[in-house]
Amino acid sequence: MKVIVTGGAGFIGSAVVRHIIEQTNDEVLVIDKLTYAGNLESLDSVSENKRYHFKQIDICDRKELNVVMASFCPDVIMHLAAESHVDRSIDNPSAFIDTNIIGTYTLLEASLAYWKTLEATKQSIFRFHHISTDEVYGDLHGTNDLFTEKTPYSPSSPYSASKASSDHLVRAWHRTFGLPTVITNCSNNYGPYHFPEKLIPLMILNALEGKPLPIYGNGQQIRDWLYVEDHARALYLVATKAKVGETYNIGGHNEQKNIDVVNIICELLEELVPNKPNGVKCYKDLITYVTDRPGHDQRYAIDASKIYQDLGWKPQETFQTGMRKTVEWYLQNKQWCDHIKDGSYARSRQGII
Ligand SMILES: NC(=O)c1ccc[n+]([C@@H]2O[C@H](COP(=O)([O-])OP(=O)(O)OC[C@H]3O[C@@H](n4cnc5c(N)ncnc54)[C@H](O)[C@@H]3O)[C@@H](O)[C@H]2O)c1
Repeated sequence: MKVIVTGGAGFIGSAVVRHIIEQTNDEVLVIDKLTYAGNLESLDSVSENKRYHFKQIDICDRKELNVVMASFCPDVIMHLAAESHVDRSIDNPSAFIDTNIIGTYTLLEASLAYWKTLEATKQSIFRFHHISTDEVYGDLHGTNDLFTEKTPYSPSSPYSASKASSDHLVRAWHRTFGLPTVITNCSNNYGPYHFPEKLIPLMILNALEGKPLPIYGNGQQIRDWLYVEDHARALYLVATKAKVGETYNIGGHNEQKNIDVVNIICELLEELVPNKPNGVKCYKDLITYVTDRPGHDQRYAIDASKIYQDLGWKPQETFQTGMRKTVEWYLQNKQWCDHIKDGSYARSRQGII
């Protein structure tokens, strides 16, 4: 199969690309604008493979999309390109509207035009897989409630509102124009190659430097964490096996309070890096509570029983095994982190690397 992965230089996109190149015989074309979140160094392990291709394209650029679809002829489009950081969406929502809404609309239009050129068998194989978030459902206040595929949308932040909009567009392009789409809504991911502005890598890297570990509010917010490679397996399964028009929730059965996540990181670091930075007696002493994020969702938790029943997927990692792998990865891949910190990873965006 030939698979286009939009946003393939990002955190989850690069895991999907590595999964496809390493575990299948498919050919992959990554389409990525290479914003601050795109990092070609996350694709170093597959970049020499003949089945891997890359084009620096903005998904809002219809002409470029037309050219690339006509020349690559994809069987599947996995759409992960997005602005993805909630704090950035509060500071400056406009890029979120552009990429997540206009970009998805543009990609849908280009995909539909391409799909109409295919002969009937190819048309029936084709899938447009939209990768979305559980944040479209808003938050949960009861302790036992779970998001199902039928939970009404109630997004809280500009990020989740823009993702909700894109989900609606994808459903409309299926229902109105017949484009064969599938949608997945996933909980918080963690794992290797996660950009250091996000909670888990930020805490690991700050602790190693003896910097404060800032926790929003009282740290009691609950997230359902999924190891990114488990997500990549689920996405490939859905893209290749799900029935047209389906939606699947994907989650890790791993509800954790933010403060507990940070405590686990500190405990792993005590074991793996007992030699602490100057003046630090205990990593947990670095924990600092800061003013809460406006509109901060209290709890997310996913009912992932449908994807298990229909497609047999369940996560392979527990939070304990996944967190250990993650902390070890950051310890062993200092260069990847240093290139983000000193900005040199950005050279890949200018085509220098
Ligand atoms: N990270 C999570 O925990 C999580 C959970 C559920 C769903 N998701 C969804 O999964 C997808 C991927 O998330 P991520 O964490 O890997 O994001 P990310 O921010 O790490 O990566 C996004 C990628 O998209 C690219 N991009 C941004 N704007 C673009 C544009 N206009 N044209 C082309 N490329 C563009 C960036 O360069 C980057 O490589 C997103 O759609 C996100 O909403 C993420």
